[in-house]
Amino acid sequence: MSRAIPRLTGIVEQMAAKSRLVYRGLVLYYKELVRAEVELGRINSSDRVLCIGGGPCPISAVLMHEFTGALVCVIDNDNQSVMQAREFVQSLGYEHSIHIEYSDGREIAPQDYDVIHLAAQVSPLEQVLQHVREHSREETRILVRLPRERLEHLYEIGDRAAFNQYHAKTDHRWRNVDCTALFAPLGEYRGL
Ligand SMILES: C[S@@+](CC[C@H](N)C(=O)[O-])C[C@H]1O[C@@H](n2cnc3c(N)ncnc32)[C@H](O)[C@@H]1O
Repeated sequence: MSRAIPRLTGIVEQMAAKSRLVYRGLVLYYKELVRAEVELGRINSSDRVLCIGGGPCPISAVLMHEFTGALVCVIDNDNQSVMQAREFVQSLGYEHSIHIEYSDGREIAPQDYDVIHLAAQVSPLEQVLQHVREHSREETRILVRLPRERLEHLYEIGDRAAFNQYHAKTDHRWRNVDCTALFAPLGEYRGL
């Protein structure tokens, strides 16, 4: 049963990458969630955004770019998703604004980014968060989507306590995602 939701999400996203109808349905699901994240992270057009875990249809990255005009880099540690996501972004005409790279969130060099976003399906979520908090610049805003506690066993969330030290959060009603939490890099917290 573990990882059931990441697997299901992957299947739905593969369909969305191929069908505009499914994509539009997915947009309805993600739109308000991403809008709330843009507000929480105060993302604007001059920010460089890194999305960790884009999948075959990196819808959050697309909406973040559409809402703000920011340049977005999306990484995924699955080769097939990277190739499908590149085709999908190109089909929308966003290939110069949204870059898709193969990389793992535990190894990425995050210093170039003003905002870093972690999808709930990223695995292991707490290790990736620890890595980006340790290696990003002190003014970077780190956004982490957290699933509802009762659904955690369907994701790869290790110790929930690793996510308690956030600075602010936005709650998402009725979805499998409980909230998006805003973290600052480890070290001196300068305020957001
Ligand atoms: C299905 S997507 C969900 C994101 C969704 N498309 C969105 O736009 O919000 C989750 C992706 O995260 C990727 N992933 C999981 N762990 C990762 C890691 N440690 N580093 C990079 N990508 C990861 C998976 O390969 C999967 O494609």
